[in-house]
Amino acid sequence: MVTEVIKTSELHKVDPVFGQMSFDNHEQIVFCNDKDTGLKAIIGIHNTVLGPALGGTRMWNYTSEWEALNDVLRLSRGMTYKSAITGLNLGGGKAVLIGDAKTQKTPELMLKFGEFVHSLGGKYITAEDVGMATSDMDLVRTVTPYVTGISESKGGAGNPSPITAYGVFMGMKAAAKYKFGSDILEDKVIYVQGIGNVGEALVENLSNEGAKVYVSDINQERLEEVRDKYSVNIYGGDNIYTEEMDIYAPCALGATINDFTINQLNTKIIAGAANNQLAEEQKHGKMLREKGIVYAPDFLINAGGIINVYAELENYDRKEIMRKTENIYNTTLEILKKADADNITTHQAAFNVAQARIDARKNEK
Ligand SMILES: NC(=O)c1ccc[n+]([C@@H]2O[C@H](COP(=O)([O-])OP(=O)(O)OC[C@H]3O[C@@H](n4cnc5c(N)ncnc54)[C@H](O)[C@@H]3O)[C@@H](O)[C@H]2O)c1
Repeated sequence: MVTEVIKTSELHKVDPVFGQMSFDNHEQIVFCNDKDTGLKAIIGIHNTVLGPALGGTRMWNYTSEWEALNDVLRLSRGMTYKSAITGLNLGGGKAVLIGDAKTQKTPELMLKFGEFVHSLGGKYITAEDVGMATSDMDLVRTVTPYVTGISESKGGAGNPSPITAYGVFMGMKAAAKYKFGSDILEDKVIYVQGIGNVGEALVENLSNEGAKVYVSDINQERLEEVRDKYSVNIYGGDNIYTEEMDIYAPCALGATINDFTINQLNTKIIAGAANNQLAEEQKHGKMLREKGIVYAPDFLINAGGIINVYAELENYDRKEIMRKTENIYNTTLEILKKADADNITTHQAAFNVAQARIDARKNEK
């Protein structure tokens, strides 16, 4: 497993694509360019053994092409294991568009991107990620059927974020059951870092259960809005990691669990929505284990969103979406126990189960 967060200045020191540290035997990497619309995109297809590679499109103002490539390699790989552990017949893929979504995203650019997705004949299916809205996917849908996450009015499953949050809530409860002997979160001190689409919905679930919720975000307006809506506390300090808490829920960016923060963390459980939370999977997974912090693997508990978009492909209904998402509780509990039994990190335990499913399908073929 090779998914370290690498300094941009280091990336160019190795071979351009297959030599990148985040390259993990990806099946296909497609570079897309269109002069007229200014489109510069990379589609990463990590693995299609279980099915077509499904994963969102992220638009981000990357500081270099190396950074964009590294991101798409890491994210597409993560999708492979997320779908595998969730029992979905999907492979892992992701796309990144290089540019500022606020100023450079145009309908023409999105349509051109859709044409590139279409040219892959269904091997890659897109959806929304950071910098994308449901309306963008609706636009892409006009040039290709290989897109999910479209509006409910157009036959899609709508916004996946509340379902993702519900899955995280289930995973968090399972971790509490494992660590505290009860999955009731009432009075538990929980810090939610990042109260965007998923973070807010998670706060709603937690405050309904009577948890003592603290929220942090770089957006002050959002903090006040969420505080007033759910009667939660705004974290007023300057280093969330040193605060004493029961549960830390990273719901903003990846790699917040790293050499620097692990030594400071004063929590019993980590369970959140962000992708790629561990800066280095093996090293930081082990460090958490040694500190006795229960880590609910990100790709396992944040799978609600992919369950939601998968419904568009398989035509299953809301009830089935909720059933599959609720099952994240059982899977998380099993993985935490398995990690103990096998004396490995929880991340490794989840990864092994996902990899075994992929290997079994490959052997069948
Ligand atoms: N939306 C989904 O269904 C889904 C599914 C799986 C995983 N995820 C992951 O969950 C995370 C959140 O997704 P989202 O859709 O809510 O995104 P979002 O963009 O709606 O919200 C992110 C929030 O984090 C805040 N933020 C950014 N940097 C921060 C920092 N340093 N400290 C505190 N807050 C900060 C932003 O201001 C924003 O409010 C992302 O990592 C995403 O990849 C989302």
